[in-house]
This record gives sequence, structure tokens and C-alpha cells, in this order.
Amino acid sequence: MAIRIEGLAALVTGGGSGLGEGAARALAEAGARVAVLDRSAEGAARVAGEIGGLALPCDITDEGAVETALGEAEKAHGAARILVNAAGIAHVAYTLRGDAPMPLEDFRRVVEVNLVGAFNVIRLAAWAMKRAEPLDADGARGVVVTVGSVAGFDGSIGSAGYTASKAGIHGLTLGLAREFSRFGIRVAGIAPGSFDTPMIRDNYADTTSPWLEATPFPKRLGYPSEFGALVREIVENPMINGETVRLDGGIRMPWF
Ligand SMILES: NC(=O)c1ccc[n+]([C@@H]2O[C@H](COP(=O)([O-])OP(=O)(O)OC[C@H]3O[C@@H](n4cnc5c(N)ncnc54)[C@H](O)[C@@H]3O)[C@@H](O)[C@H]2O)c1
Repeated sequence: MAIRIEGLAALVTGGGSGLGEGAARALAEAGARVAVLDRSAEGAARVAGEIGGLALPCDITDEGAVETALGEAEKAHGAARILVNAAGIAHVAYTLRGDAPMPLEDFRRVVEVNLVGAFNVIRLAAWAMKRAEPLDADGARGVVVTVGSVAGFDGSIGSAGYTASKAGIHGLTLGLAREFSRFGIRVAGIAPGSFDTPMIRDNYADTTSPWLEATPFPKRLGYPSEFGALVREIVENPMINGETVRLDGGIRMPWF
């Protein structure tokens, strides 16, 4: 039986921009009570204001700040049943280019945000889901939607930390789906191709065209609303679990 989103509490990290914003809008349209978590207070306030949600500025790598934010969300909306983990950063750099190897700190930073930060929010949100009553006869308590990347599958070049962080997210998704199954919590992921968001516009403007070349159809960037539509489907469809779905127009990233 489909999960009914209306009235459910949802947390969307990175909800103040791009794909997270697309997810926040789609969930709000379906009637969820959405908390927008973003380290950009401005972005969180803008999106929350437009969708009638709650803005919770916080850094996902900060244990205390995320605990506080989730507590505030629960007080306002009840126990979270939906978590979309869209907060993330890009890092475009070759490991061996110029006159020195890539600084270790650069690799560490992107893994810290994209992988460790995502896990930080998942562990705290899933803990709350575990304590909540089941929503249906299956015993469903909640769903976590992770956000990986085709880069994590395709071995994207010139972004070792980003690629590794996203491959880590894909690994985490099936592992946690198995672990959380006993509590009725699903974990499924989306691996986007190239979407029209500030991240892409700020970091990859000059590489966008080879990417589109490698995209069979449609030959354009994806829209955040198309990402939001898949988030909604994952939440509603109880049989989607443990899988990371490529949402990418068929792209296989070129290696050169
Ligand atoms: N846009 C794409 O083509 C694309 C492709 C594959 C994967 N992704 C992934 O999708 C996710 C969203 O990316 P986007 O394109 O919407 O980027 P974006 O830059 O538009 O949005 C990311 C949001 O995350 C927030 N954020 C960053 N670090 C944070 C932190 N430590 N704590 C809290 N919030 C933080 C930013 O403030 C921003 O609002 C990222 O994980 C990204 O890696 C994007």
C-alpha cells in the first residue's frame, strides 16, 4: 500500500537550494510538514517561507547543531518520517596536477560534508523514526532518501574526494537499508546526473557541455522538480528499498 505523505513530518538537508529545494517543494505539495535544514540561513528561510515549512539553519557535520535542529523540527511537526539528505558540496580538482599533489585537507573536507555529514543526520533522524509508531500494516516507520551521484558509479575524473564520498553514500544506502529493515525504515538513494542547480553553475560551467554530449536524452540539465518527483515516488512506493536509482538521462560520465 502506498505511503500517504500528507501530514507526515519531513526533514530536507540542503533544502535551501537546488535539488534539496526541489525535494522540499515536492514533499510540501504532497502535504508533508517540511523542515528545511541548510547551513545557508538565507536559503533555508527563503524556501521554508515559500512552502510553509520550518527553516532550521545548521551545518550537517555539527553533531550538536543537528541534534538541536531535529529536536526543534520534532517539536513543531512531530517525529520525522521522511529524511532527504541533499546537503553536499562539490570539489573539482585533480590529484596530480600543478606542482604538488592535492592537499589531503581538500579530500578530507568533501568526504566530511558529503559522507560523514550525511551519516550524522541519518543516524539521528533514524533514531527518532525507530521510536515512532508504525504507519501502516507493513510496520513502516519512515524512509531515508540518500543523494549520491553518477560520479560515484562512473569514476568521474578530477574530483577524487567528491567521487569517493558519493560512492560511500551508495554503499551506505544498501547497508543501512538492511540494518534498518527490522525497524520498518527504508533507505533508498538517487544518483543524479547533471541538474540545473547553483552547484553545477558555480563549479562546472565549462564542463557542462561534454557532459551533455555524454547524455543520450534529453540533452539538457535536469530540473530540480524532476528530482523532487522521484523523491516523492521513493517515499510513496514501499517496494523501493536498498537501491540507488540513477536519474540521469542515460549519461555515463566520460573519463577524459
Ligand atoms: N546538481 C547536480 O547536477 C548534482 C549531480 C549529482 C549529485 N548532486 C548532489 O545533490 C546534492 C545537492 O546538490 P545541488 O546541486 O542542489 O547543490 P546546491 O549547491 O544548489 O545545494 C546544496 C545545498 O547544501 C547546503 N550545504 C552544503 N554544505 C552543507 C553543510 N555542511 N550543512 C548544511 N547544508 C549544507 C548548501 O548551503 C546548499 O543550499 C549534493 O549532495 C550534490 O552532490 C548534484
